[in-house]
Amino acid sequence: MRLLVTGGAGFIGANFVHRTVRERVGVSVTVLDALTYAGSRESLGPVADEIRLVEGDVADESLVDRLVAESDAVVHFAAETHVDNALADPAPFVRSNVVGTFSVLEAVRRHRVRLHHVSTDEVYGDLPFDPTVRFTAQTPYNPSSPYSATKASADLLVRAWVRSYGVHATISNCSNNYGPYQHIEKFIPRQITNILTGRRPKLYGAGANVRDWIHVDDHNSAVWRILDAGVAGSTYLIGADGEHDNLSVMQLILQLMGRGPDEFDHVPDRPGHDRRYAIDSGMLRGELGWAPKHTDLTEGLADTIQWYRANQWWWGPLKERVEACYAERGQ
Ligand SMILES: NC(=O)c1ccc[n+]([C@@H]2O[C@H](COP(=O)([O-])OP(=O)(O)OC[C@H]3O[C@@H](n4cnc5c(N)ncnc54)[C@H](O)[C@@H]3O)[C@@H](O)[C@H]2O)c1
Repeated sequence: MRLLVTGGAGFIGANFVHRTVRERVGVSVTVLDALTYAGSRESLGPVADEIRLVEGDVADESLVDRLVAESDAVVHFAAETHVDNALADPAPFVRSNVVGTFSVLEAVRRHRVRLHHVSTDEVYGDLPFDPTVRFTAQTPYNPSSPYSATKASADLLVRAWVRSYGVHATISNCSNNYGPYQHIEKFIPRQITNILTGRRPKLYGAGANVRDWIHVDDHNSAVWRILDAGVAGSTYLIGADGEHDNLSVMQLILQLMGRGPDEFDHVPDRPGHDRRYAIDSGMLRGELGWAPKHTDLTEGLADTIQWYRANQWWWGPLKERVEACYAERGQ
């Protein structure tokens, strides 16, 4: 199988490529990645000799057409992904997430290639603090931020290309991921690397917002399960029943790193901050027999902290710039 992985030099994509090289003999991987600030060749270092990395833009129609023509399947991770950046400048989000997905769809339509489109639960907006309500594939789209609006737009394009042109595509909407190789602008690695560099961790508002955490390896095992057995045209929600409010996650990180529960600063909340996300992944578990393996957040976070401790060479050079950017925004 010749597999094209867009965005394979980013957090989830790189972990997906590592897993594929490790576990899928006979799959040859081509990564298409623009190597934006969020992508890095180093994240693919351990598998560099076993894959092909093409540096390029997913919105470049002729490049995407050529790569798709040489592939049997595409997994589409490439996107601009940070909500705070989208609030500051939404333009790259429209180009990469909407125009980029359009260019992938046109190429898979022309060459009749299987597509799996990777998306987020943020397309559904947010939920009340009521444990009986969770997102399902029937939840209406109601995105809150420029990031989630562009991901929702991309999902709707995929659905329309399935219905109108019979494109063989599946979609997954996953909850918040954590694990190795995540950019340090994101909540969990930002706090870990703040502590490792002698800075105080930063919490938006009171920290009551709830996220449904999943280890990146569980997300990627689900993507492979969908590639293997997913039904064309279906949407699968991926989640591991990992709901925690941001304050609890912050205090767990502090505890695991030997700090007191109050050794952090509150910073102004993100505008339009979604209250709560929670995934009902019953369909994926029931129909495709998938189950997550890393359901103990304390254990998963301890491993992740260990990874950031051991790999300061990977994130260290970024730290000053990321914190300067947050400081400019007062966060
Ligand atoms: N991180 C999460 O918690 C999460 C949860 C659910 C879904 N997702 C989705 O998973 C996918 C991957 O997320 P991530 O956290 O790994 O993101 P990331 O920001 O770490 O990586 C994105 C990658 O895409 C590349 N990219 C961006 N624009 C591109 C373009 N125009 N052309 C080619 N490459 C481009 C970047 O260089 C980077 O390597 C995204 O589609 C995101 O919406 C993420």
